Amino acid sequence: MSLSIALTKGRLEKQTVDMLERCGYGIEKLHNKGRALVFEDTVKDIRYFLVKAADCITYVEHGVADIGIVGKDTLMEGGSDYYELLDLNIGRCRFIVAGMADANPLQMMGHVRIGSKYPEVAKQYFLSRGMDVEMIRIEGSVELGPVLGLCDGIVDIMETGTTLKENGLVVYDTVCEISARAIVNKASFKMKRQEIMSVLSDLERIVKEDAERNQSEGS
Ligand code: PRP
Repeated sequence: MSLSIALTKGRLEKQTVDMLERCGYGIEKLHNKGRALVFEDTVKDIRYFLVKAADCITYVEHGVADIGIVGKDTLMEGGSDYYELLDLNIGRCRFIVAGMADANPLQMMGHVRIGSKYPEVAKQYFLSRGMDVEMIRIEGSVELGPVLGLCDGIVDIMETGTTLKENGLVVYDTVCEISARAIVNKASFKMKRQEIMSVLSDLERIVKEDAERNQSEGS
């Protein structure tokens, strides 16, 4: 039975393609893909398509994709009708709370305005601290919010920390660690269990190889 896999475009794309290639899959067309969005595997009976992170969940939930590869940040923000079955340990970053150097939003009294591309994650974090938070949804360049006075602080993902630093923001707390996950459509997991488990165990082998290599390099 053939499988459909939704891959997240952008930040995660290259690492995901590298991983699938190391599994021995025929995914070489994705290296020089131009503007194409759908690809057939040249070795396996798999079709891949490239989508935005939030849409990856939608395609999996609707069963158009059997498997999706997407960041935990996007999974935490919305959607729950899928199985999250594997941590791929790529695309590692953190959800952080940041603000201007002299204005820690976590120490502000009363109403705090927080800008984020992830309003649900941010709201839950501030509510769990018992704070009176107003969420302001920002679609990108979130770091600008506190600089221009749109908000008192932000909840965003940080990878290298360069964007924060270059815009004069500092980290006040880490909400949680993030990495890419493999999610699976619930019905597909019943109907195509063997095919799905085969892909997941191939990916898991690469995850383990990398973990062992990192461990031996670290020791
Ligand atoms: C993300 C995030 C930060 C930046 C963090 O934005 O929202 O702005 O990356 O990365 P760094 O810690 O390595 O600097 P993205 O590049 O996805 O673009 P966007 O701001 O347009 O959403």
